[in-house]
Amino acid sequence: MTKLIDTYGRVHRDLRVSLTDRCNLRCTYCMPADFNNWLPNDELLTTNELMTVLQVAVDSGITEVRLTGGEPLLRPDIVEIVKQISALNNPPKLSLTTNGIRLVDLAQPLKDAGLERINVSLDTLQVDRFNQMTHRDRLDDVLKGLKAARDSGLSPIKINTVLMPGVNNDEATALLHWAIAEGYQLRFIEQMPLDAGGLWSRSKMVTADEIFESLSAEFKLTPKENRGSAPAEEFLVNGGPATVGIIASVTRPFCGDCDRLRLTSDGQIRSCLFAKTETDLRGLLRNPKLSSSELSQAIAKLFEKTVFEKLPGHGINNPDFVQPSRPMSAIGG
Ligand code: 5AD
Ligand code: SF4
Repeated sequence: MTKLIDTYGRVHRDLRVSLTDRCNLRCTYCMPADFNNWLPNDELLTTNELMTVLQVAVDSGITEVRLTGGEPLLRPDIVEIVKQISALNNPPKLSLTTNGIRLVDLAQPLKDAGLERINVSLDTLQVDRFNQMTHRDRLDDVLKGLKAARDSGLSPIKINTVLMPGVNNDEATALLHWAIAEGYQLRFIEQMPLDAGGLWSRSKMVTADEIFESLSAEFKLTPKENRGSAPAEEFLVNGGPATVGIIASVTRPFCGDCDRLRLTSDGQIRSCLFAKTETDLRGLLRNPKLSSSELSQAIAKLFEKTVFEKLPGHGINNPDFVQPSRPMSAIGG
């Protein structure tokens, strides 16, 4: 039964759950190299608290959960979390977005625990560039992690790539050749104003049209139908079966079809990456006066309230747009 319908008729079925705001990379479009404004550990939801929230979310109509971060594989009990989500009543479809570094050790245990699909962020195949873009020398670990994910049977394996002008925007076709050869599904994401450093600028981002043009120099792209609420515009590459996606969050926003909600690692529900308000669940979860059924009812009400108050769009293109005060790593991608 779904209770999560907003005032614009959008039905919310997808919950993005950030498990930690910490990360073992420092992607320049996400956080400054010296970022150290982390959430205190005691403010993160415990795994028990998280399961309470997720059971209510599923009972309210959520059918898909994506685990994100920061870097979700830094959560010490990540395999246990996946196991417990798979054991909920009416378990949701489960996927995870990671930078891939810890997949060498974790891909198989995660698959065995019930994880179905995985998205790995990777912006370049060149070591020097990787080091420059992430401030860490870990490209080799990511590539090995991807192979481990493929060997474990996680499928599909999607690659998320952000292109930046003068940094890696000449690598679109090389990345697509590589992804097709390896059997990974590549998607380019327009850079959004979500970095902790506040460096984003509309005039300095690579647009979806520019990405399409770069790829068209070497590939014939034909649009696929039936996008639904998926953010990516999908194209068949050279007639298929290979595909490539372009996520035009800034230049062609898809807010009208949005079915997503977010839960931050410190227990706040957000109706949008760019929402200016959050709804606190942690206070409820830590209120000793509530019985477990009162708690579940109260959480359900706050989900409904957050959805009810959801705005029609992110407003990035409005002149009075203000970047959210928390970076992507704290909100969950
Ligand atoms: N704009 C677009 N994508 C971003 N990501 C992180 N920060 C940004 C940003 N400012 C991507 C990461 C990851 C996903 C969760 O979001 O590359 O793949
Ligand atoms: Fe880490 Fe992801 Fe941010 Fe990169 S984009 S620093 S991998 S949280």
